[in-house]
Amino acid sequence: MKYNEIITELTSAPRTWLVTGVTGFIGSNLLETLLKLNQRVVGLDNFATGYQKNLDEVQGEVTSEQWANFNFIEGDIRDAATCQAAVAGVDYVLHQAALGSVPRSINDPLTSNEVNVSGFLNMLNAAREENVKSFTYAASSSTYGDHPALPKVEENIGNPLSPYAVTKYVNELYADVFNRCYNFKTIGLRYFNVFGKRQDPDGAYAAVIPKWTAALIKDETVFVNGDGETSRDFCYIDNVVQMNILAATANDDAKGEVYNVAVGDRTTLNTLFDSIKNALNEQGVNCDASPTYRDFRAGDVRHSQADISKAKKLLGYAPQYRIQQGISLAMGWYCSSEAIQ
Ligand SMILES: NC(=O)c1ccc[n+]([C@@H]2O[C@H](COP(=O)([O-])OP(=O)(O)OC[C@H]3O[C@@H](n4cnc5c(N)ncnc54)[C@H](O)[C@@H]3O)[C@@H](O)[C@H]2O)c1
Repeated sequence: MKYNEIITELTSAPRTWLVTGVTGFIGSNLLETLLKLNQRVVGLDNFATGYQKNLDEVQGEVTSEQWANFNFIEGDIRDAATCQAAVAGVDYVLHQAALGSVPRSINDPLTSNEVNVSGFLNMLNAAREENVKSFTYAASSSTYGDHPALPKVEENIGNPLSPYAVTKYVNELYADVFNRCYNFKTIGLRYFNVFGKRQDPDGAYAAVIPKWTAALIKDETVFVNGDGETSRDFCYIDNVVQMNILAATANDDAKGEVYNVAVGDRTTLNTLFDSIKNALNEQGVNCDASPTYRDFRAGDVRHSQADISKAKKLLGYAPQYRIQQGISLAMGWYCSSEAIQ
């Protein structure tokens, strides 16, 4: 089925979804889209890196009837009973909760492991016991590690370069083993540098786009790790939302797999910096700053670009936004919201 047909079908026969990590960046965007499609959504989060303000913003974007379809559970995925309670009566699970950030995992590998591995296993097991229709989880492009080939093809991975990458790879291993041992077929989505509204600009572990955006708006120094020729396949959030809905509703033959989620483009940090600066100038923020270069960061891969043909072929994925459109939309949000203080 094509994406617009799936949307029509879901709207005419609403399902119940569990979104873990619902107060975070990707989770709150999934919530917004699902509620706008009149779906019933259970959300689970412990506010480790998510915010009540993200839920408040979603509430402002939907009708009161749609908001009444949302049931929020404040809880921790490290607690198995919490996961069991959250998944009760759910059709589709979109498991996003995790501790992101390569540097965070280097500074504190134990907590990243507890949340991203033990918490993941709790959710996976609870979903299997509940016999949900599908379990889709946030994997990561970091799983490609030191494999040199570009673009990245799902089958060819290298050695992980950080504890975070290990945790995300272990997710894939558990998902695979649950398929073999219990015939419980999941879908892993290897996200490549997602960006868009509600991505957190604050803190030591902020991602590059919100971090630079905040620095430019506040007229602070923008640091580039390395020479700026490091490249990434930046993916706008709406493409990621599309992939989650396609994955959740996929046929059995497309399950038991992992998929790259990106656009298939490669943008250097130097180009990214110029794009953000131009988009902010278009929003009326006057900035003509130049970046300050510093050492490369431990654990970072040098280049990243996805081959997205598997997702196109098996799931009908058709990304609607390339980086430039995404940056314009994201900058519109950062300039109009109170995200940057
Ligand atoms: N943003 C990206 O570019 C990117 C890239 C690859 C993978 N991912 C993965 O996508 C998922 C979502 O990432 P995001 O960018 O929205 O990050 P985020 O930090 O905004 O969201 C993660 C959410 O999980 C919640 N959470 C963390 N620990 C929890 C726990 N123990 N129990 C319950 N909830 C918990 C946080 O409070 C937060 O709301 C994560 O699994 C992340 O590893 C993201």
